Amino acid sequence: MNKTQITIDIDSKYKFIYTHLIYPDNLKDCMYESFESGYPIILDNYQIENFNYDYFYNFPFWFTEKNEWVKPWYPSDIKKGAPMRDVSVDNDIFLKEHKSAFIAWDEFYKSCFSDYKTKNKILSHRYNQLIVNKLHLDLLDDNHTGNDQQMRMFLNLDTIKPRILAFSYTIEQLFVIFYNEKNLYQLDKSNVNKFISELRNRCIWNDEKNDFFTLPRHYITLNPGAIWIFNSQWISHQIIFGNKIQCFEVDIDSSTLKQPSRSISNIIKNL
Ligand SMILES: [Fe+2]
Repeated sequence: MNKTQITIDIDSKYKFIYTHLIYPDNLKDCMYESFESGYPIILDNYQIENFNYDYFYNFPFWFTEKNEWVKPWYPSDIKKGAPMRDVSVDNDIFLKEHKSAFIAWDEFYKSCFSDYKTKNKILSHRYNQLIVNKLHLDLLDDNHTGNDQQMRMFLNLDTIKPRILAFSYTIEQLFVIFYNEKNLYQLDKSNVNKFISELRNRCIWNDEKNDFFTLPRHYITLNPGAIWIFNSQWISHQIIFGNKIQCFEVDIDSSTLKQPSRSISNIIKNL
């Protein structure tokens, strides 16, 4: 059995909470509460129904010179032939497989979170080797006003190697820890995107180099086939190593959360 390994950093000022499900645990009972806690859900030994594992497990991954983060392939990139640019594959087949993977992901999402009203869903492919990016909070583009709750679901499609992530403090914890030192009372809480980017710049991407190994790190080693789910705006995270994943992103109407006070805009407003 493949089992995700989790290493807790004991120097953390706050407890790191996670939900680790090993199929066939009862998925649906705890999914809402776990997701709305903001901390990651990790799911081992679960097969997404009607997902073409054979095709994507056999799909090649590729390299950049410095193994850095590059823009994932989104549907618009696939239509323009992005896979063809980076690896030699039949783009028409890839597009067809992308569409059926999207349907399989969507069914999986709905089987876990059917009570949420959703606005946008998108599937992206990240198939280049990535070795150590900065600790960060995800900043969403201008199409995201911050009024929606962002969920990201990931699947490790490497057949041999794990994906290794590190998690650190949440936006709430950073705000408390650095409130005086970084003058966080100056931040504008009415604009979610600006708030998160300014909080990141002051608390993580700063002169103390908190983006690399200064803040505590809880390491998670996700085996081939593992699935993990979290709100990447809420908790700081860093990729240590990985070759190949898919990411299914959903914008959830915040008013349909079980606890609307846990929406990202309300969390920030109430800091
Ligand atoms: Fe991220």
